[in-house]
Amino acid sequence: MNHALGDVAAFDRFSRFYDWFTPEADADEFREAVAFADRDVERVLDVAGGTGRGAAALDASERIVADAAEGMTRQARRKGFEAVRADAASLPFADESVDAVTIVDALHHIGSPESALAESARVLRPGGVVVIREIDPTAPVGRFTEAFEHLYGFDSTFFAPEDLGRLVADAGLDAKFRSRGFEYTVVGRAPGSE
Ligand SMILES: C[S@@+](CC[C@H](N)C(=O)[O-])C[C@H]1O[C@@H](n2cnc3c(N)ncnc32)[C@H](O)[C@@H]1O
Repeated sequence: MNHALGDVAAFDRFSRFYDWFTPEADADEFREAVAFADRDVERVLDVAGGTGRGAAALDASERIVADAAEGMTRQARRKGFEAVRADAASLPFADESVDAVTIVDALHHIGSPESALAESARVLRPGGVVVIREIDPTAPVGRFTEAFEHLYGFDSTFFAPEDLGRLVADAGLDAKFRSRGFEYTVVGRAPGSE
């Protein structure tokens, strides 16, 4: 698997307690981000989705969680989500098979973010969107978060918003900012429409 192994192992160990310390995702933010899609959103894939925080924020008929840590997928299944153990850089899904991908608070943990974005673009149907929620390392709270994660031993690589916007565009998606701040949201829309 192509990931920061230490990070995944830590999430695996911590999976049973993860939700105790993690606030729910902002459903309004996700709804508005997904509204950039040029198609109906019925099938959502939450990549590096952990216990399914991104999936839980969206009201779609099919919500699937993919995560490299078995413990996290187990917790996601307990919450009623379909969940598969998978590397974000090699998703076990067909081309053009989902309407939206979410990557929440996770891209900075993935060893090859470019591959994860390319895979997300590959599985998106025309007009579908990838919604990425990240932390801005140039904001004071973001700098603190980055320092804390490194102190904890995570191999995290955070992205300034403009850099992430460029990576999303490099994956062949039309990149837009849905929100900015310490936490920000980038949306990438696949070409074409329903
Ligand atoms: C901070 S958690 C975020 C989980 C969830 N998205 C959320 O918002 O609660 C980061 C997640 O990324 C997963 N992860 C790290 N590298 C990965 C990779 N290469 N492929 C898939 N999942 C990965 C970890 O196992 C962990 O569940």
